[in-house]
Amino acid sequence: MTMPIGVSRRRFVGGLAAAVGALGTTAQTSSISQAPLVRSTRARPRLTIQEYDAAAKLAYNENPFGPPESVVKAMASAHRFGNRYNYPDADIVEEIAAHHGVTRENVLLGAGSSEILQVAGRTFLPGGRKVVGVAPTFAEVYEYASGVRAESIILPLRDDHSQDISALVRATRANHRDVGFVYLCTPNNPTGVVVPRKEVKLLLDGVPDDVPVLIDEAYHHYVEHPDYATSIPYVVEGRSVIVARTFSKIYGLAGMRLGYAIAPVSLIDRMRPHASGSINALVKWAGAAALRDTASVERVRSATLQLRKSTTAELGKLGYTALPSETNFFMVHLTREVTPVIDAFRAKGVLVGRPFPPMLEHLRVSVGTPDEMQRFLAAFREVMRT
Ligand SMILES: Cc1ncc(COP(=O)(O)O)c(C=O)c1O
Repeated sequence: MTMPIGVSRRRFVGGLAAAVGALGTTAQTSSISQAPLVRSTRARPRLTIQEYDAAAKLAYNENPFGPPESVVKAMASAHRFGNRYNYPDADIVEEIAAHHGVTRENVLLGAGSSEILQVAGRTFLPGGRKVVGVAPTFAEVYEYASGVRAESIILPLRDDHSQDISALVRATRANHRDVGFVYLCTPNNPTGVVVPRKEVKLLLDGVPDDVPVLIDEAYHHYVEHPDYATSIPYVVEGRSVIVARTFSKIYGLAGMRLGYAIAPVSLIDRMRPHASGSINALVKWAGAAALRDTASVERVRSATLQLRKSTTAELGKLGYTALPSETNFFMVHLTREVTPVIDAFRAKGVLVGRPFPPMLEHLRVSVGTPDEMQRFLAAFREVMRT
């Protein structure tokens, strides 16, 4: 079957260039075709220290509890390397490799996994090649593509907010020679919905072998769903898979910037020249300590999941449904336009997620501390009453 693939490069009001296009099957696009699928909204409001301290920070899916004592100590003792270039670096690459049962040649560090996504763009998109993925998702790859005037083939989510793997396969095959890589975020941001392992396999078996699939597992640690699995074993098998991971979420190191790719050596070798190689001393030591402190990971995970469940249950009592999230955030269906609601929350000192077109009646809320969730619920009752 020939897909009605249309690929375009456009600019949307209020944002940088954002790529959009290629609707997989017209049947699945009708409910959302009125709104752009992607909008670049990278500009983040600047906060004073007072505003920052006072705000309930539920906008960026961080770990609200911060790094554990073991990691803070590791960072503190690494300060002494701050004036050096060549210093002991906690063997962070080896630590990551051992953690995943791969070799150090399978690991590429980035200043956050954002850098890994950009490196993938720099490596695989030159020459007019395109990235294939869904929207909404973590749009960094599409923003990078539009920034270098590469195009993106972006398919809508299905009505149940799952990713349409068959459509991704068809779009990739139909555009095979033009595709640089496929991007799959699971669990997906902003929906929190996972791609079942069988569907990941369908994707990998369905796309041509020479098309890399970048699987973004930023929220891996929060997943409970029995059908989910990491895709790192595919790397070990030598499949054309790049798994992106980050220390910004459960490990509580977003401000410190460390992420990495796990991929077959042949792909890492192609990507490495495009990476900055500039990771700071503090976060290398922090990352190594964080991987070892499994008790703290478990504490953050269980506190976060418990808070997500209690908060969404409260919203349920108020008559609002949340998508089935497997992450440290959730999306609640407001049944009204989200932008004024975000502004109203902000006026109350509660910072929540930005709009994610075309899901413009859904609000993304990160799980914060117990106090922040109480503030969110109090604000929700007031904002939604009006
Ligand atoms: C799915 C996903 N991937 C990657 C990132 C980038 O995170 P970082 O660059 O801090 O590692 C984020 C951040 O929110 C994300 O949600």
